[in-house]
Amino acid sequence: MKKDAINVGIIGAGTVGGGAAAVLVRNAELIAHRAAPIRLAAIAELDRARGEALCSELSLPFDILTDDWLTLVGDPDIDIIVETIGGVELAHQIISSALKAGKSVVTANKDLMATHGGELLNIAGEMKTDLFFEAAVAGGIPIIQSVKEGFAGNRIGQIMGIVNGTTNYILTRMSESGADYAEALAEAQALGYAEADPTSDVAGHDAARKMAILASIAFNSRVSFDMVPCEGIDKISAWDIAYAEQFGYAIKMLGIARSDGQLIDVRVHPLMISKSHPLAAVRDSYNAIFVQGDALGSAMLYGRGAGALPTGSAIAGDIINATRNILHDSKARWGCTCHLELPVLPLDETLSKYYVRICVFDRIGVFAELSEALTANNISMDSVMQKRRLTDDRAEIVLITHQVRHADMMAALNDIERLDCVCEVSDYIRVEDESI
Ligand code: HSE
Repeated sequence: MKKDAINVGIIGAGTVGGGAAAVLVRNAELIAHRAAPIRLAAIAELDRARGEALCSELSLPFDILTDDWLTLVGDPDIDIIVETIGGVELAHQIISSALKAGKSVVTANKDLMATHGGELLNIAGEMKTDLFFEAAVAGGIPIIQSVKEGFAGNRIGQIMGIVNGTTNYILTRMSESGADYAEALAEAQALGYAEADPTSDVAGHDAARKMAILASIAFNSRVSFDMVPCEGIDKISAWDIAYAEQFGYAIKMLGIARSDGQLIDVRVHPLMISKSHPLAAVRDSYNAIFVQGDALGSAMLYGRGAGALPTGSAIAGDIINATRNILHDSKARWGCTCHLELPVLPLDETLSKYYVRICVFDRIGVFAELSEALTANNISMDSVMQKRRLTDDRAEIVLITHQVRHADMMAALNDIERLDCVCEVSDYIRVEDESI
C-alpha cells in the first residue's frame, strides 16, 4: 500500500492518551523521517473540556474532537486506532471492532490484555493486522519488544521485575527514612503515585497483570491474570525492613516468572533480595526488569513505569512500528506468540526460602516447640537470625528457612500460631535463593 501519511485516531484523552498525542506532536518531524508523516486525525473523548484542553495545549484544531469512538473506527481514512480509555468491557469492544475493521491497534491496557489478550491477538491474526501493547507493561521501558525481538534467539529462563512504581516508592521510603507502611503510603498518595484506593497496586494486582503478559510472551504460552498468585506489601513493617537491612537484603515487590520449558512458575510478592542484586538498587517509583536467557546471560532494563510522556513514548513506538508495517505491507508479522500450552505451577507447589517473624512468650523450650512444628511440616531452618525482647515476658524470634513448598510453610505457620508459647506470627516474606 502506498500512502504519504498515516492517520491516527486516539480514543481516550486522559493522561495516557494525552501523553501519546504530546509525543506525536512534539516529535512529528523526527518521526516523519524515521517512518512516515503521522497525522493525529481524530480524538474521541467524552469529556469535551478535557479534549479541548489537550487540543489547545498541543495547538491542534478542535474539529478533530468527537465524543463518539464509533466514528473513528468507522472512518476508512484512519489507519491506526489508539485505545487509551482503560477498563475492560468498552475497551474490549473498541479494540475488537477496530481490528475487525482491519485497522492496526495500539493499546496501553494491561487489564484487558492480561485477561483477553489471547482472544484479541487471534482476531488481529485472522484480520492480518497488528495489535501492539508495549505501554501495558512498565510504561516507557520497551520490554515487550525486547522479549519479542531483541531476545528472540534465547530460551528465557527467568524474568524478574519491579513493575509497579507505587509499591517500589513505598518500600524505598520505608527503607530510607524508616517510615512505617501507613506513613509511606500516605506520602505516595500525596505525591500522586498511589491512588486514593491503593488496593490494585499494594495488593499486587497491577503487577500480576503485567507479569501475566510478560510470562505469556517469554514462554510462548498463555498466562492470564487469574493464574498469577499475588501477595501484597501491606503487612511489611519497619522491623522487617530493619532485619532485612541487617542481614544484607533489600525488600522489593517483585514479579517473578520462570520456566524450564515444561511448566511456568509465575507470581508476585515481596522478596528479600541481596543488596548486591541489580534490582535492589532500583529506587523510588522507577521500574526495572531483569531478564535471564540461555545465550544472553542477564540483562536489565530500567526506567519510568508510568507517567504521561514515558507511557506516550511506548505508544508512539508502537504507532511507528504499525506505520512501518502498513507502509511495507507487512502487517501481522508477529501475530500471537503463544504456540504452547504449558501448565502453571500452583501456588502451593512453589518453592522459596522464607523469613518468618514470630512473637513468643519468652520461656524455656520455645525454640524446641517451634522447631518441632517446623520439622513436622518438612521445614528445616537455615538460620535463626535474631531475638529481640518486646516486653518483660515477650520476645521476637526471626528465622529463615531452607527452600520449602509454600503449602508446607503455610501449614507450619498455622501450627505455630496455635502453640501456647506463641502470641502471633507477625509476618513472613520470601527470601532470595540460589535459583534467583
Ligand atoms: N499504578 C502503576 C504503578 C502504574 O504504580 O506502577 C500504572 O500501571
